Amino acid sequence: MGKREDRSLRIRGGKSVRIGVIGVGKMGGSFVERLIGMDEIEVINIHDKYRSKMERFVKMEKVRVSKDLKDLFEMSEIIFLAVKPQDFGGVADELKGVNKDGKILISTMAGVRIERMKKKLGMDKITRIMPNLAVKYGKSVVACSFSDGLDENEKEKIKKILRRFGEVIEMDEKMFSAFTAIVGSGPAVVFIFLESIMDSAIRMGFDYESSKRMAVGMVEGAMEVMKNLNLHPGELKNMVTSPAGTTIEGVYELEKGCFRGTIMEAFDAMRRRADELLEDE
Ligand SMILES: NC(=O)c1ccc[n+]([C@@H]2O[C@H](COP(=O)([O-])OP(=O)(O)OC[C@H]3O[C@@H](n4cnc5c(N)ncnc54)[C@H](OP(=O)(O)O)[C@@H]3O)[C@@H](O)[C@H]2O)c1
Repeated sequence: MGKREDRSLRIRGGKSVRIGVIGVGKMGGSFVERLIGMDEIEVINIHDKYRSKMERFVKMEKVRVSKDLKDLFEMSEIIFLAVKPQDFGGVADELKGVNKDGKILISTMAGVRIERMKKKLGMDKITRIMPNLAVKYGKSVVACSFSDGLDENEKEKIKKILRRFGEVIEMDEKMFSAFTAIVGSGPAVVFIFLESIMDSAIRMGFDYESSKRMAVGMVEGAMEVMKNLNLHPGELKNMVTSPAGTTIEGVYELEKGCFRGTIMEAFDAMRRRADELLEDE
């Protein structure tokens, strides 16, 4: 074993860690961008099926292109797996015969359970995570679930790395489909909501740019109030809803249209679909 392979995961002790990222598409690419700025990371080894996908990273400080997955595993201690679930079988085949002793795998594949990865890869240190598209800005909420093979020290180190992507919530793996619905698919609901506010403004005569600034600014402001006052949203709604005023007229229309029930049904449908897509053994 060479000198480089002897390094261990000593983030707390001020020593560096070597990361691997398999698949540098939308999610894996964001992981690389966020991790580059982390002082404790010495190198990020990347590998993707097509070299063209890796081109935008090759000139980045700390990034090294691995010639294959064997090379990536040899040169990394913590390895992110960011390929589509349907490509997992291909990755597992490529990794047959590769020494994985002591390596930690962090998978972001939707619907692939820890148990299946353990069996297919012959590894026992596995973390399953579910981020959303805000990872790129360090503003995701990230679910994580650990396999039994990880000790408390290793879990802490992994969480420290994941905090570069946003807020980290550890949970039982059986909650992943529900989390995927709320946090993974949730941004689509927010974008539809924003679009409908913009459409309302446009209908009243505002131009596109003004409508966008009004919608985004209003939602950002409401979030700031909620964060600062730390009150239940119902109480905040009451604060802007005066008796016989303008707001209550709109609230009444939303209630007639089953706004809240529709949103709850939508998230439940997303959770059901996430469950359906769970890959079985
Ligand atoms: N995008 C999101 O918002 C999001 C959110 C939560 C979780 N996820 C999960 O993150 C994973 C990646 O999603 P994504 O949107 O980033 O997908 P993506 O953009 O398609 O990226 C995956 C990359 O992995 C490459 N790849 C496939 N097989 C490979 C192999 N054997 N070795 C090396 N590279 C390989 C793909 O190459 P080819 O394109 O040539 O196949 C592609 O460049 C998925 O499992 C998804 O469930 C994504």
